[in-house]
Amino acid sequence: MSPEAGAGATASEPWGEVVADALRRIGSAADLDELQVLEVDLLGRHSAVVAARSGLGAVPAEQRREAGRALNQARAAIEEAMAARRRALEETARAARLDAERMDLTEVRPSRRRGHLHLVTQARDRLEDVFVGMGYRVADGPEAETDWYNFEALNFPAGHPARNMYDTLYLELGPPESVLLRTHTSPVQIRVMEATTPPIYAVMPGRCYRQDTPDASHLPNFHQIEGLVVDRGISFADLAGTLDAFTEAYFGAGFHSRLRPSYFPFTEPSAEFDITCVFCRGEGCRSCGRTGWLELGGCGMVHPNVFRAVGYDPEEWTGFAFGFGIDRMTAQRHGIDDLRELVTNDVRFLQQF
Ligand code: PHE
Repeated sequence: MSPEAGAGATASEPWGEVVADALRRIGSAADLDELQVLEVDLLGRHSAVVAARSGLGAVPAEQRREAGRALNQARAAIEEAMAARRRALEETARAARLDAERMDLTEVRPSRRRGHLHLVTQARDRLEDVFVGMGYRVADGPEAETDWYNFEALNFPAGHPARNMYDTLYLELGPPESVLLRTHTSPVQIRVMEATTPPIYAVMPGRCYRQDTPDASHLPNFHQIEGLVVDRGISFADLAGTLDAFTEAYFGAGFHSRLRPSYFPFTEPSAEFDITCVFCRGEGCRSCGRTGWLELGGCGMVHPNVFRAVGYDPEEWTGFAFGFGIDRMTAQRHGIDDLRELVTNDVRFLQQF
C-alpha cells in the first residue's frame, strides 16, 4: 500500500488511496479497542507513513520537499480522522455507561421497598432494643466535646500517652485543643453520671470521629455504642455475663464472647471484647486471622478516678463500661467486607438491607 509501489498514484495525490483506505477503516472501527489496534497499524512504527518518512532520504533531492509535504498532509489527515473517531466513540461509550448506571429516582414501584432506614441505623435500633430488654435506658451526648469530657474526666491527664490512641480532630473554638470532635462515646458516661445518681444502667449510641484514612476496616467517622453500669457490688463477672448475654441476644445462639486483657485509662482492669467469628463460626478463616474470634470493642471496670471526677465515692460504687463499634458489628452481621460501602450511598447496595 506504499505510494512508491502504487503505480496508479499520481504525483499530486501520491497518498490519496492510502488516506482514503485509512479513513474508511477508521470510520468503521466499532469501538475504542478496535481503534487502538488500528492506530498502531496506521500510525505506529511499522505503518506506511512511518516507513515512508524513513524512505524520504532515498528520494531525489528535487522531489524530496514535495514528497515530505505530501507525507505530512497524509499523516495529518489520518491523525485527525483518528482523533475525531476517538471522540465520537468515547462519547458513545460514555452515553452507554450512563445509561447502564442510570437510576430512576422518580419511579415508584409498589412491588419494591421504596426506602428504609440505613443499615447502621437499623443496627443501632436493634442494639438499643437488646439492651432495653435487659433493663438499660438509652442516653446521648454531643459530638463536639470538651477535652474534659473526652479525656480529662476519663483519667487521661494532659500529656497522658494513652491520648495517642486517639487521632483526635480538634475544633478551632476557644483555647487551642480545648474543643474536639469526640473520639469515642465514653464522654457520655461522664455526662450521664453527672446528671443522675446511681444505680445506672445505660447505653449511649452515637457518632465518633478520628483522623483516620478510610479503608476496608476504618472510617474517620464511625459509630459506637457505649454501655455503663454503676451499682453496688458490681463485679467483673457481671460484665462478662452481660456481654455474653448480649452476644447471644444480638447475634443468635451459637455466638459467644471472650475477653482479653487490655488497657484503657478509664477502666481497670480493662479488656478487649471478641465474639465468635461470624464468617467461620469459630473455625478460623481469613477474616478473623484464623483465630475464630472477631474484635468488637473495649470494656472494663470503671476506674476509681472516673468516679472521683464526677463526685461519686469509689468506696461505695462499683461499675463496668463497654464500647463497641456499630459499623464493624453491622458489617460482620451482614458479611460486608469493606466498611466504606456503608457511606458510599449507592442505592443498589443499600436497598439490599
Ligand atoms: N472508648 C473506648 C474506645 O473507643 C472503648 C471502651 C469503652 C473501653 C468503655 C472500655 C470501656 O476505644
